[in-house]
Formats: sequence, structure tokens, C-alpha cells
Amino acid sequence: MRVLVIGSGGREHALLLGLKRDPSVRELHAAPGNAGTASVATNHAVDVASTDAVVALAREIAADLVVVGPEVPLVLGVADALRAAGIDVFGPSAQAAQIEGSKAFAKDVMAAAGVRTARAEIVDNPAELDAALDRFGPTWVVKDDGLAAGKGVVVTPDRVAARAHAADCLENGHPVLLESFLSGPEVSLFCLVDGDTVVPLLPAQDHKRVGDGDLGPNTGGMGAYTPLPWLPDAMVARIVDEVCKPVAAELVKRGTPFNGLLYAGLAVDEEGPAVVEFNCRFGDPETQAVLDLLESPLGEALAATARGTLADLPPLRWHDGAAVVVVLAAENYPGRPRTGDVISGASAEGVLHAGTAINDKGDVVSSGGRVLSIVGRGADLAAARAQAYERLAGVKLTGSHFRTDIGKAAEEGRISL
Ligand code: GLY
Repeated sequence: MRVLVIGSGGREHALLLGLKRDPSVRELHAAPGNAGTASVATNHAVDVASTDAVVALAREIAADLVVVGPEVPLVLGVADALRAAGIDVFGPSAQAAQIEGSKAFAKDVMAAAGVRTARAEIVDNPAELDAALDRFGPTWVVKDDGLAAGKGVVVTPDRVAARAHAADCLENGHPVLLESFLSGPEVSLFCLVDGDTVVPLLPAQDHKRVGDGDLGPNTGGMGAYTPLPWLPDAMVARIVDEVCKPVAAELVKRGTPFNGLLYAGLAVDEEGPAVVEFNCRFGDPETQAVLDLLESPLGEALAATARGTLADLPPLRWHDGAAVVVVLAAENYPGRPRTGDVISGASAEGVLHAGTAINDKGDVVSSGGRVLSIVGRGADLAAARAQAYERLAGVKLTGSHFRTDIGKAAEEGRISL
């Protein structure tokens, strides 16, 4: 198979490395890719928000399969355009991608499918904001009702901070979603979905706040680990049965079947799983850890999903043990990141690239907020953490920062249901 991966993050680097391990994949391309993907695939400098440009590239290289990483091209209809051109694509249609693109749509689907989620209200008129805030909190959950790469969410016990974020979104012309706060540890469960066939991957946990101890602002994700030693196996089956399958079936019923990766972000409490949000693509950085443990051929699984034969795919096989990913972020991230600094140690094993580029001198330099994802694997979480942090110690980037506690609470048995 000749496979084209769309995107430029650590997630896409992980997808490419996973595909490279599949003997049925003989050629890899990335668009636009980054400095790291260039060592696994041929990078193409294409604007992935242009559906025409993506279809033209897929045709030019005669791609057998296109795997779309980020949400923006999906919401813009890149999967529809590729399918219309007769090219197999892993990724949902623009309509099905609304499960991430519009939080109001997701809430409507969940209500129809009987899926447990937070109580929510949309506010689009600033005059109604204060009364709406009074019906929630503390803790307040304020979300930008659009694509915000995880950074449009503010969770705070401080009404002033909640109001400020909501007012900011409204001033920018974006409706705001207020939600009741869901307590309980968070789980990211990724499922391959082809119509109403749902195949879960290993559950993972993201660390969204920038600082150790879950302090500071939300980010796109500072690290993750998989599997979750504190989550009973039966809970994954329950999430599939109570959340993912009903949502997939509801989308089929609406005539907009989902094809690709359905990412359920959940909080799990004594009543069971409740949805925090859905995404229409692999999560970043959880993918870097989850795919590290995948033993089955990745290309085969993605192609079966894209071609509508997921029901015939043999059960997925996984390596024993655990995987941990730690994100190395640029100075000032999640604010405007410092870029253009030379990175050393970026080609070592387990070092995946996101915000990287090659400068005129051929050096690998930082070019974004989340710069690298460093993955470690081991017999258990402690060993995987140790390897990830050992590998990270070999990387140098001026001003960069990372969390030192990825997976630590789970390792120390401090997470329970
Ligand atoms: N891990 C958060 C995200 O991918 O949106």
C-alpha cells in the first residue's frame, strides 16, 4: 500500500511510524509533515485545508489510502472530496465530523442516543451570560463552541475567570457552551468506527494542564499514558456499549455514518462513564503512546476501516506493558511560543516530532508550541515513565518545558474510581 498521512504533529509522526512497521505498507507520504516525518516519509508542502490540493496530491502519488490526522481538514470536507475521487480515506465526512466541529451537534446526537454527558447550555447573547453562569458552577466549564484544539476550554472554580473566557469568546463572535462539571478521572478511548462497527483501542489518559499537579492553563495535551491500571477491563466494554456504539448507530440513523477514529473523552465516576467531548480523529498526544503498544498491523486496521470491512478485521493484538508520552513544549506555550531554536537529540529513538522544521543550515529547529513527544515503553508504568524521562534528558531546546508527573498519580496508585 502507498499511504498518505495528512497533518504535521506528533500524532502524525506516530501514525507514520506505526504504518512503517506494517509489511503491507511499502511507501509513505506526509502532507505537510515535519522535520521528523521526513525521515519516515516523503513530505509534501501542501495546504491541507485545501481539499482540492489534498485530492490532487493523493492522485499524483496514486495513494491507496489517505489517513487524515487533524480535525480541520475533516470538518472542511477533505474526506468527502477524496471519497468522491474514488480514493480510500480514513476519516469521517464533514457532516459526521460535526461530532467534534459543533459541540451543539454532539449534544444533540448524545441526547438522541441516550448517552450520559454534562448538562449544557449554549450562550450566544452577552446579555444572557450572567444569568446562565448563575445556573452553573462552581466549578465552571466554559467552552468555545468551535474547533479550538483543546485550548478553548476553561475549567475553573473562579466565576470571574469563567466569565472573562466566555466574554472573550462572545466578543470574537463565537457562541459559548456552559457545562456542568463532571468529576471523576478522565479517560480517552479511541475507537475505529465503520458505520455501526466499533473496535476500541487501549484506553489512555491525557494531561491537559500545562503544569505539574494539573496546575495552570489548558493545553493541547502535555503527556499521556496507556493502559490505565486503575480502569477495570469491563469499563472499556461498558464505554463501547453505552457511549460509542449508540453514537455510531445514531449517526448511521441520521444518514451520516462515521468512518474513521471516534475519540470519546470521558469522565468516569460511580455512575459509570459520562462524555466530556467527542473528537473525530486520533488524539494528540495519546496516540503516540497507544500506537506504541499496537502489535497488529496498523495499515491493515486503518484500510479495513476506510474500506468498510472493519467487521472482518481480526481482533487487535497489543504488546504487554505500558507506554508513556511526555510532551516537550516551547518557551511560553500555551501562549505564543518561542520558535526558531536549534534542538539537539531530536533524532533519538522514541523522540517524535510535532512543531519542528529544518532551517537553512540543515538544523532541526522548533517551529510550534508542542515541539516533541518523547515516548517510553516498559513492563509497567514505572518502567515506561523511567524510559520516557531518560530519553527526554537527551534532548536540549532552549527555554523548553515539560511536565515531570506524566502517569505519576497512576503509578503511585492515587487514581481510583
Ligand atoms: N488529547 C487532546 C486532543 O487530542 O484533543
